[in-house]
Amino acid sequence: MSVEQSEAARASYNRMSRVYGLLSNSSEKKFVEVAIRQVLEPRDGEVILEPGFGAGQVLLALARMVGPTGRVCGIDVSDGMVAAARRRLAGSGVEDRVEIRRGDASSMPYADATFDAVFMSFTLELFPDDEIPVVLSECRRVLEPGGRICVASMSARGKNGLMMRSYVWAHRRFPHFVDCRPIFARKTLEDAGFEVLDEKLLSMWGLPVEIVLGRPK
Ligand SMILES: C[S@@+](CC[C@H](N)C(=O)[O-])C[C@H]1O[C@@H](n2cnc3c(N)ncnc32)[C@H](O)[C@@H]1O
Repeated sequence: MSVEQSEAARASYNRMSRVYGLLSNSSEKKFVEVAIRQVLEPRDGEVILEPGFGAGQVLLALARMVGPTGRVCGIDVSDGMVAAARRRLAGSGVEDRVEIRRGDASSMPYADATFDAVFMSFTLELFPDDEIPVVLSECRRVLEPGGRICVASMSARGKNGLMMRSYVWAHRRFPHFVDCRPIFARKTLEDAGFEVLDEKLLSMWGLPVEIVLGRPK
């Protein structure tokens, strides 16, 4: 992301950070649950990265799923979200398995081949078209050979019905409020050099949601 785009995303998510947990519990939560429990399926002892962790619900769930020998790292551009996630993790009993920091997913401060898996929900589709391959190339770099990536996103697949047309209109008209836009998640991962291992196409109030699991080819 350019410095300006990164600053805009940071400012916008900082404003939302106090209420984001409540907002996402009423919308994305169900899809994120399916994505982590039925598609990613974290294992004991794994080391998992979540770019764009928002209010930290997934960080907490992943930390419980990887067990005492596992580790979870998160990176998010918004300091408000970092603070919200820290509040959520405090006293959970698993906070020592989680390391979070503020930063940009298009340039991540992790060594090559650090993670068994990368999980990203409702975040990849925030990036401009030319930036998505950069983010995915970063994910690929930090994944172990044979590691997995699981992406849940608003999807451009499926019918272009009234809900979808209204959503796309709202995204164009109010990009700071409706900042996700539908993408072809499966194709995006394939174009970035991932082999697709599993996928689900679900619906959020009539809007398609794609969950895709891949591994580097
Ligand atoms: C729509 S929210 C999704 C949050 C969470 N993954 C969920 O499913 O509820 C997008 C998140 O991505 C973060 N974000 C936006 N641009 C980012 C960037 N360039 N690098 C890292 N995180 C970013 C935002 O701060 C926000 O927390």
